[in-house]
Amino acid sequence: MFPIRRNRRLRTNEAIRSLVRETIISPNDFLVPLFVVEGKGVKEEIASMPNYYRYSLDLVKDEVKTLWSLGLKSVLLFVKVDDALKDNKGTEALNPNGLMQRAIKTIKEVCPGMLVMTDVALDPFSSYGHDGIVESGKIINDTTVEVLAEMSISHAEAGADFVAPSDMMDGRIIGIREGLDQSNFIDVGIMSYSAKYASAFYGPFRDALDSAPVDMVDVPKDKKTYQMDFANRDEAIRETEMDITEGADIVMVKPGLCYLDIVRDIRNTFDVPIAVYQVSGEYAMLKAAAEKGWLDHDSVMLEQITSIKRAGADIIASYFAKDIVKLISL
Ligand code: PBG
Repeated sequence: MFPIRRNRRLRTNEAIRSLVRETIISPNDFLVPLFVVEGKGVKEEIASMPNYYRYSLDLVKDEVKTLWSLGLKSVLLFVKVDDALKDNKGTEALNPNGLMQRAIKTIKEVCPGMLVMTDVALDPFSSYGHDGIVESGKIINDTTVEVLAEMSISHAEAGADFVAPSDMMDGRIIGIREGLDQSNFIDVGIMSYSAKYASAFYGPFRDALDSAPVDMVDVPKDKKTYQMDFANRDEAIRETEMDITEGADIVMVKPGLCYLDIVRDIRNTFDVPIAVYQVSGEYAMLKAAAEKGWLDHDSVMLEQITSIKRAGADIIASYFAKDIVKLISL
C-alpha cells in the first residue's frame, strides 16, 4: 500500500521548497525600534541587549541612513530621559524642544522618506516609572489620557507620521484621535498597542531607558492594573475591538512569541493591519543562548521572525530587523 500522495516531493530540494514556501520575509515587514539619548557622539551598547545601542542625535542620523540603505523604511522612536527631567505627570514629554521632538525633526531632515512612529506613554518621563499618573497608589486613567493626547499632538507638530500609544489606559485611542483631529492632524495615524500584556520580557527595555517602576510606598510595583494578564485570550479581542472602534489604524500584540495564538485570533477576527512587537527579552534570550553556543543565532532568528509573520503579523517591530535583512539578502 504505497501512498499516491507523498508530501516529501515538495521538500526535495531548496528550489522546490522556495517555490511552495508560504511565508516570505522582506524588509517591508519591519519597524525598527530606535533608542535616543542626549549628548554628542554617543553610541552606548545596552548591557542586556548585546549589539543594540542608544544613539545621540548626531549618530541617529547615520543609523537612519544605514537603515534606509537596507530597505528599512520605518522607525519606532523611544527616548531615554534624564532623571532630573522626570516628574509624575511627564511634563517633559510635552516640551516642544524635548529629545523626542528633536529626534523626529532630525530624522525627517536627513531621511524625509523614513516613516517616523513615536512611542506615546509616560514611563520614560515618569519619576515613578509608570505609564500613567500615580495618585495614592493608583494609576489615574483619564488625566493620563489627556496628557497622552497632548503628547501625541506635540509629536505630530514635530513631524511624526504615526503615534504609538503603548500605555494601555482605557479610552486613550479616542482621546488621542480627537486631540489630533482638533489640531488638524487628520493624517497622523495611530498604531495602538491594543493587546499589550504585563510581561516579564520587558526587562532589558526598562534597562535601556531606565524606566522600570520605582520601589516606593504608594507606587504600584508592577503594571498589572493596566497591562493585560497573560492568562487571558478573549480579553485581547475585546481590547482590540475597542481600539479599532476608537480609531486605531494599526493594532498590536505584544510581546511576540509567547502570544502568537492571540495574533492568529486577531487576524481571524479583524480586517486591520496587525503589528507584533518582538520585545527586548525575546531578543536578549536568543543573544544569550547564541553567545553560549547553545543555539544557532541566524537560524533561530529566521525561524522566530517567520513564525510571527506566519501567525498573521503584517508588521514586525523587532531588534533583529537589521540582522535579518542582512541575512535574507545574502
Ligand atoms: C512602555 C513600553 C515598554 C515597552 C515598550 N513601551 C515596557 C513596559 O511596558 O514596561 C517594551 C518593549 C520591549 O521590551 O522591547 N510604555
